[in-house]
Amino acid sequence: MDKYIEILKKNNQEHLLTYMEKASKEQLEVLKKQIDSIDFEELAKLYQISTQSKDKAVEGLIIEHIKFTDKYGIPEEKFNSLKNIGEEIIKSGKYAAVTMAGGQGTRLGHTGPKGTFWLNVKNGPKFLFQILAESLEKSNKEFNVTVPWYIMTSTDNNDETVKFFEEHDYFGYGKDNVRFFTQNNLPILDEDGKLMVEEDYSIKVAADGNGCIYKAMKMQGILDDMKKRGIEWVFVGNVDNAILDMCDPVLLGLTVSEGNEIGCKSIVKRDPHEKVGAFCKKNGKPGVIEYTELPDEMAEERDEEGELLFGEASINHNLYKVSAIEKIADKKLPYHSAYKKQNYLGIDGKLVSATEPNSYKYEAYIFDGFGFFDDMSILRGRREEDFAPVKNRTGEDSPETAIALYNAKYNL
Ligand code: UD1
Repeated sequence: MDKYIEILKKNNQEHLLTYMEKASKEQLEVLKKQIDSIDFEELAKLYQISTQSKDKAVEGLIIEHIKFTDKYGIPEEKFNSLKNIGEEIIKSGKYAAVTMAGGQGTRLGHTGPKGTFWLNVKNGPKFLFQILAESLEKSNKEFNVTVPWYIMTSTDNNDETVKFFEEHDYFGYGKDNVRFFTQNNLPILDEDGKLMVEEDYSIKVAADGNGCIYKAMKMQGILDDMKKRGIEWVFVGNVDNAILDMCDPVLLGLTVSEGNEIGCKSIVKRDPHEKVGAFCKKNGKPGVIEYTELPDEMAEERDEEGELLFGEASINHNLYKVSAIEKIADKKLPYHSAYKKQNYLGIDGKLVSATEPNSYKYEAYIFDGFGFFDDMSILRGRREEDFAPVKNRTGEDSPETAIALYNAKYNL
């Protein structure tokens, strides 16, 4: 115990000692392991960014508009040639898809992994995972290949996700063509920077954000597996887009022809305050500024033609050369904080139910990886073809809007 007393006192976390006294033998072992694995210096740095305002998040950054290519403004001959370039790569088996499914889906209020949420579409009902599997299957038929499918889970939802795929026979995609990998966690801090405790006396942790995907892919042998299979290009996208097309040969062709290692699909923002990231240049490098960090004034800024200066929305439709993922995996991405409601075990051993936000969660963002490159390709697609997110219970970006977009896209 002496070792832990010293660590916890040194790092202003001595309140944990009370929990350690009350914990059972098994719980104590878990707690000790967790304490051993925490980088307290890093944690102190994270706490410093907790209360950062929107303006502070962009302080010191030069944020500028970024160029993009409108998919439907490309002359026909060029369009066909880009499409051919992309098709050749996909057909030759050098293409894989990754779904990020480690998030919690709290806004939607669904308790299981988000991919297990089902939509009552006209040819359904269908689970989000099933919709993704079917979309890939359609591309497989079109390009006469089987695109390997990798799914990132969190420690929280991995077992349930794998079980769900087993129970549904991998939605016909074939067990050998699907591989899961799991991202890491980071501790959650309360408003005073203290570690919080769960009912089972473990330290409260949460998934470390989708930006940790690069490291997770490297550490868990996914990049090696891809290289073994001869994969050169990788699509990475969200789990919650009901009309996602993971194999767009035009985006791939554009990225190759522009000599870039990263290419992304964008759509035009519905309004200046839509909850989507916006493509931009940050200090001269390509990037995305998240909706939580874009100051209102900038969100509303327009160019001479009246278009929003930061109106190219990221829908997390991301394409990488495997070499780009390898490069980013060795870098340190910044963390962003989110102020959230968390129930926790009080020092008196009683559960405290939060009614207001009371804690900070830290996440790395996938698009912060773009800034390690001088340029990237951005292809503006169309909302009705590319983006039907399921984020909220009702209203905008809800099951209802996603179902309507799905039915319309597939003429149901
Ligand atoms: C995300 C994007 C936002 C974009 C929007 C489009 C980020 C940081 N933000 O916002 O720019 O406009 O999607 O729909 O990506 N995930 C994990 N592990 C985590 C956290 C998230 O795998 O630790 C996954 C989720 O399961 C989901 C995806 O990442 O598939 C996006 O996460 P979500 O929380 O839905 O992000 P948004 O806030 O909607």
